[in-house]
Amino acid sequence: MPYKILEGKKGVIFGALDEHSIAWKSAEEISEAGGQFVLTNAPVAFRMGTIEKLGKSTNSLIIPADATSMEDLQNLIDKTLNHFDSKLDFILHSIGMSVNVRKGKEYKNLNYDWMTKGWDISAVSFHKLMQTLYNKNAMNPWSSIIALTYIASQRTFPNYNDMADNKAYLESIARSFGYFFGKEKKVRVNTISQSPTITTAGKGIKGFNGFINYAEKMSPLGNASAEDCAKYIVTMFSDYTKKVTLQNLFHDGGFSNVGVSQDIIDLFDEA
Ligand code: NAI
Repeated sequence: MPYKILEGKKGVIFGALDEHSIAWKSAEEISEAGGQFVLTNAPVAFRMGTIEKLGKSTNSLIIPADATSMEDLQNLIDKTLNHFDSKLDFILHSIGMSVNVRKGKEYKNLNYDWMTKGWDISAVSFHKLMQTLYNKNAMNPWSSIIALTYIASQRTFPNYNDMADNKAYLESIARSFGYFFGKEKKVRVNTISQSPTITTAGKGIKGFNGFINYAEKMSPLGNASAEDCAKYIVTMFSDYTKKVTLQNLFHDGGFSNVGVSQDIIDLFDEA
């Protein structure tokens, strides 16, 4: 029986597309821990995904919102505040998309309209969301806002393409907005840098299988799964992490601090 460490807490979860999504697993874990939430995703995701199923199993209201639209975000937050009749305790931004990745455009030959679109969805949407929450005074003191990121923001991974730049921007927004949210409203803002994970967004990266196998062999604890990430998110939404803010938190089995592992050395020795 899981500990009900989110009992009484209310929030919004962005980005549950299907049962592989990190946001989907997070919704299940948060619900198990006693948290209540509104689920949201882009209107187009309702055609591609299965979010209604998750809404039923977690007894959650679903409100569509394109996270790049200020109008949609305002509507979402107004309706959520109304629905709960209280301010919010947690927000999960689990959104990412690169049109260049999706259409197979290489980093050396980017389409800049697509780049701008992907940047808006994957990074600027986090600012738009926080600005909406801030101006509506929607967050309770000691509440927690999390966005998901990947280490390609800080180290080069050739096939991560323009998503690497989007993630660098996203992490910077977390620190910049997190300062004001902390100072003025006692709200914490962090990013979680997750292991490669088999999801719709993950599988879009060229050579993803090689990528994930390499990370598995490099990480002393092995790759973190979507379920592992969901559990970590629960702790970050709980009162046990109240003074953690402005951090990029690596949740990657140790990958980020390994130069080379013995497993990888052995592979080359054998060759
Ligand atoms: P996913 O494909 O299940 O989730 C991405 C979500 O973004 C989808 O639900 C999609 O509908 C939503 N989205 C796209 N455009 C949107 C818009 N305009 N408005 C609102 N929502 C929109 O994939 P996953 O892997 O669960 O991705 C969640 C987050 O985790 C992303 O930020 C991703 O970059 C990050 N991440 C994923 C890793 C992986 O290997 N899968 C590794 C590290 C971070």
